[in-house]
Amino acid sequence: MTDSTIIRFDKVTLQYDGDDAVLSDVSFEIEHGKFYTLLGPSGCGKTTILRLIAGFIQPTQGDIYLSGRRINDVPANKRQVNTVFQDYALFPHLNVYENVAFGLRIKKMKQAAIDAKVKEALRFVNLTGYENREIREMSGGQRQRVAIARAIVNEPEVLLLDEPLSALDLKLRTEMQVELRELQRRLGITFIFVTHDQEEALAMSDEIFVLNQGRIEQSGTPTDIYDEPINRFVADFIGESNILPAVMVRDYLVEFAGREFECVDGGFHPGENVEIVIRPEDLEITAPGEGKLKIRVDSLLFRGVHYEIVGSDEDGNRWLVHSTRKAKVGDEIGLDFEPEAIHIMRFGESEEDFDKRIEEFTEVGDED
Ligand SMILES: Nc1ncnc2c1ncn2[C@@H]1O[C@H](COP(=O)(O)OP(=O)(O)O)[C@@H](O)[C@H]1O
Ligand SMILES: [Mg+2]
Repeated sequence: MTDSTIIRFDKVTLQYDGDDAVLSDVSFEIEHGKFYTLLGPSGCGKTTILRLIAGFIQPTQGDIYLSGRRINDVPANKRQVNTVFQDYALFPHLNVYENVAFGLRIKKMKQAAIDAKVKEALRFVNLTGYENREIREMSGGQRQRVAIARAIVNEPEVLLLDEPLSALDLKLRTEMQVELRELQRRLGITFIFVTHDQEEALAMSDEIFVLNQGRIEQSGTPTDIYDEPINRFVADFIGESNILPAVMVRDYLVEFAGREFECVDGGFHPGENVEIVIRPEDLEITAPGEGKLKIRVDSLLFRGVHYEIVGSDEDGNRWLVHSTRKAKVGDEIGLDFEPEAIHIMRFGESEEDFDKRIEEFTEVGDED
């Protein structure tokens, strides 16, 4: 634990009576002032983690620390944490000002202090001048900002955001992503943002925790997780990928699709069964005789920026290619890729062992 650690989960398990554990042995550290995202499919335990941090529920086992202090038994209203809920939970009968002021009135703060704080919070979310508006007169994006203002007016150290953008249409959603990210930087507090949308997570976060069935599969920066997924679940969940069974001939040499390929990963047993990942944008189309593999094109779709080509090699493996070059269905084409494009995943490797191996064995390309 470092000085900048603000939240720590130590082997937290949560179980509702008699049911299977919703969270199993979850441990992580969250640092002050960063943007974190909990990413995972519906039902994996994202909201549960937020509820534990907020203090709405208590762990069945394990400990939760806030700024170094164990808070398992500290009630929600005594924690320096605020939540923005998925449905915003605004009071429809109160105007913007009173929605934001609500918590401060409960704390019996003086009117002049409330005025100053509400004004500041509304300024932060670009809603200055909207004080007297009714909630029903506000758009989706504006309601979202009121909900955020209501949370930050309490000056929390940590802001929890549970899928706050999921109700917005795509354009507004993209705008709000940029806005939220800027807001976090300006406030300088910790945001813990929940989403099931991998693109949103990659675009917004300093750190991502990828969750699956109540466990953290992998944590790291967006590029760590995209470039070096720990296993098939993460590789599949974060972006589109080609995942194939493979055998490590020896370190830095891997066999798949009936051929051997140079790669940049080591730390394996000779002959070890592994899986490899190659991202579709790392594959380049060549003439049939050239390149490292040959595929037959099964389908072609134009995606605006690139063509999405699906084909199969002689071993029957399916390949997904993103390319600005076109190909015809039924054509044979070659595929080329760099050794760095092959990422190797070991079965059942823990995140700790994975990180150690990557650090120790990955060769960093020095040619460019
Ligand atoms: N009060 C509860 N009682 C029993 N099971 C619950 C309760 N709340 C949530 N769960 C279960 O816990 C799991 C995780 O839920 P949740 O954290 O809400 O998932 P997410 O937010 O990732 O979609 C789900 O399987 C859900 O059905
Ligand atoms: Mg949820």
